[in-house]
Amino acid sequence: MIEAVGLAKRFGPVEAVSDVTFTAGAGRVTGLVGPNGAGKSTTLRMLLGLVTPDAGTATFGGTPYRELLAPGSTVGAVLDIAAAHPASTARGHLATVAALAGHARVRIDQVIDTVDLRSFADRRVKGFSTGMRQRLALATALLGDPAVLVLDEPSNGLDPAGIVWLRTFVRDFAASGRTVLVSSHVLTDLEHSVDDLVLIDRGRTTWTGSLAEFTAHGTTLEQAFLALTTKELTP
Ligand SMILES: Nc1ncnc2c1ncn2[C@@H]1O[C@H](COP(=O)(O)OP(=O)(O)OP(=O)(O)O)[C@@H](O)[C@H]1O
Ligand SMILES: [Mg+2]
Repeated sequence: MIEAVGLAKRFGPVEAVSDVTFTAGAGRVTGLVGPNGAGKSTTLRMLLGLVTPDAGTATFGGTPYRELLAPGSTVGAVLDIAAAHPASTARGHLATVAALAGHARVRIDQVIDTVDLRSFADRRVKGFSTGMRQRLALATALLGDPAVLVLDEPSNGLDPAGIVWLRTFVRDFAASGRTVLVSSHVLTDLEHSVDDLVLIDRGRTTWTGSLAEFTAHGTTLEQAFLALTTKELTP
């Protein structure tokens, strides 16, 4: 389980995150949703120990990321898709990461199959489309066979078939008892993939609960989201 309590982070004059509190449970897909600049990426970076919070705590099963004994096989994350060397092939990149992190070599072919990148696994990364890069980044995150997956705007750059594929992938991942936290600035991107929603606006969590509770008031997702982010109505 992922637990964030009272997270806050200021960058100079910018209060990126002021009060973010939520949990993401095992066996569930949790969507972190909010408009551009709401503080989603900063929140995910604090969870992963890449940004030190000014206040609050972020833990995985009670342990902060930096104190996990085997972080690579506990949490897989895709925050940024530009990590592979342009001259390496997808397979070469996966082999390098697996060697550095001490993951079994057999995982390389397994993740290539999992994310369906076999047809371009031996091509150089510099010629990859955004969707191919997304799949490679996801494959890299899965090398350690993690129990938790954290994805920042994973559907960016995916075509409709890729979006359906990703949705099925995260649902299956959670159905095996694992935890998925996925961000998006487009709520409708997530309506077919999440169990729970965490809404974030101007650095604060404004609503948390199940997708079913969110739409229980007879409004559409879009109406409920706009109402919460503009604070004109409460669904
Ligand atoms: N390293 C940084 N230095 C200065 N300001 C930052 C930094 N990182 C984020 N910010 C600011 O913090 C705020 C929140 O940014 P963040 O990237 O977390 O938002 P987001 O919800 O991920 O947005 P988007 O949907 O556009 O990805 C923004 O005002 C952003 O400009
Ligand atoms: Mg972001």
